[in-house]
Amino acid sequence: MDFETHLKSFLDIDEANSLLKALEKRQKHSFLLNTLKVNNLIDIFDNPQFIKHPYVSNGYYYDKEKDNLGKNILFEAGAYYIQEPSAMMAIEILDPKPNERVLDMCAAPGGKSIHAINKMQDKGLLICNDVIPLRAKILSSNIEKYGARNCIVLNEKIDNLKKQFNCVFDKIILDAPCSGSGMFRKNEFAKVDWSINKVLECAKIQKELLEAAYSMLKEKGRILYSTCSYSIEENENVIHEFLKSHDDIKIIPIEIKEGMLEAINLKGAIRLHPNHFEGEGHFICLLEKESVTPKPYLKMITRKKSIPFQVLDFLNKLPIDYDKQFIANRNDEYYLLNDYLLDLGNLKVLRYGLHLGKMINNRFEPNHALAMTYNKNLKTIELNREESINYLKGLTINKDGNEGYQVVSYKNLPLGFVKQVHGVLKNHYPKGLYKKLD
Ligand SMILES: C[S@@+](CC[C@H](N)C(=O)[O-])C[C@H]1O[C@@H](n2cnc3c(N)ncnc32)[C@H](O)[C@@H]1O
Repeated sequence: MDFETHLKSFLDIDEANSLLKALEKRQKHSFLLNTLKVNNLIDIFDNPQFIKHPYVSNGYYYDKEKDNLGKNILFEAGAYYIQEPSAMMAIEILDPKPNERVLDMCAAPGGKSIHAINKMQDKGLLICNDVIPLRAKILSSNIEKYGARNCIVLNEKIDNLKKQFNCVFDKIILDAPCSGSGMFRKNEFAKVDWSINKVLECAKIQKELLEAAYSMLKEKGRILYSTCSYSIEENENVIHEFLKSHDDIKIIPIEIKEGMLEAINLKGAIRLHPNHFEGEGHFICLLEKESVTPKPYLKMITRKKSIPFQVLDFLNKLPIDYDKQFIANRNDEYYLLNDYLLDLGNLKVLRYGLHLGKMINNRFEPNHALAMTYNKNLKTIELNREESINYLKGLTINKDGNEGYQVVSYKNLPLGFVKQVHGVLKNHYPKGLYKKLD
């Protein structure tokens, strides 16, 4: 069956035709402003003329022909994240709050996690996971760039998460792997790769993932289920089947606003189609668990070694709140978390909260991740555009600075560490991140 016949098997013919026509038009581009680092567009852009997203307060449409926001110093500094406009609606609807425990099960490359970090104001705990190692690494690097502190990144199979976390999360993001028809304008390959078999295979995985989400959710907890597929098999049908086997789950109705369509024979869930909503398309359903669940199993990490004074000295110079008991040590690498931490057992952890740095020959060497969390309250060495471009290339900067490690910034956004040696600022930007920008 081809895609057009498939669409017409469950959508009204006029709607299917209008959707197919919209798929021939140009993709819409947008970005999420990182509210951890930037308050106003005017603080970082000379003459911002972006159109506001209708529903996401820190979301903006931009014209890629005019502004290449993906290749930019501000992007490397984590000032914003590029995410398409309909995908942004998922977290807007879930609305994670500060001091909640949130899991993003299929998180790479990290758009929804990053949006959640903003909504949570980086307070509480966000665990984000991706099963594919390379994608989990990209996720981890995006989280680092964004400057998040209270975020753990895992690279695990969902079955292992399920075994480790029983009824502990307030909110779970399940942005499920899907056949990707909502990617057709973005990625030519998605079109070629589409088949009805892929739709059915994805639907099977999606049902398993939803069952896993159920077991990790606590009482009154909410699951945000979303896909970027238009297929009923991966959307409404998955939810219907799930509801049939769980009478303690209910749909929290999403208010239908301009540009949104009610899901097909499923009250409360929505569809975003590119012929009605300026974006690539999404299916979104919000679910709540009503049953009384066992008390969550929570265990704090216990430190085996004491924390070297050099680590504490470094942290004490920074005006950041931290609790010494949540500094963890893994192979001489030091991490900081908070009292929302869960026992991670033997899960494969890529980022164990904020990576502070490591001890080498009795000296503390701060990690790049720590620099990326610097905010306006912390003293940095401000670089101009040319110096910033050179810094991101890995070059040494000829500029005055104090002794020891300092953070360099562009438009008050942290870029990374330097260390003053013989009157120059030695570059500590990680080699793997070097960028050539013009
Ligand atoms: C739609 S993407 C997630 C996009 C992400 N939420 C974002 O906003 O950037 C789905 C992710 O699920 C992961 N995935 C694929 N198969 C999976 C499986 N069987 N279990 C868990 N995750 C899987 C993929 O690696 C992919 O990164």
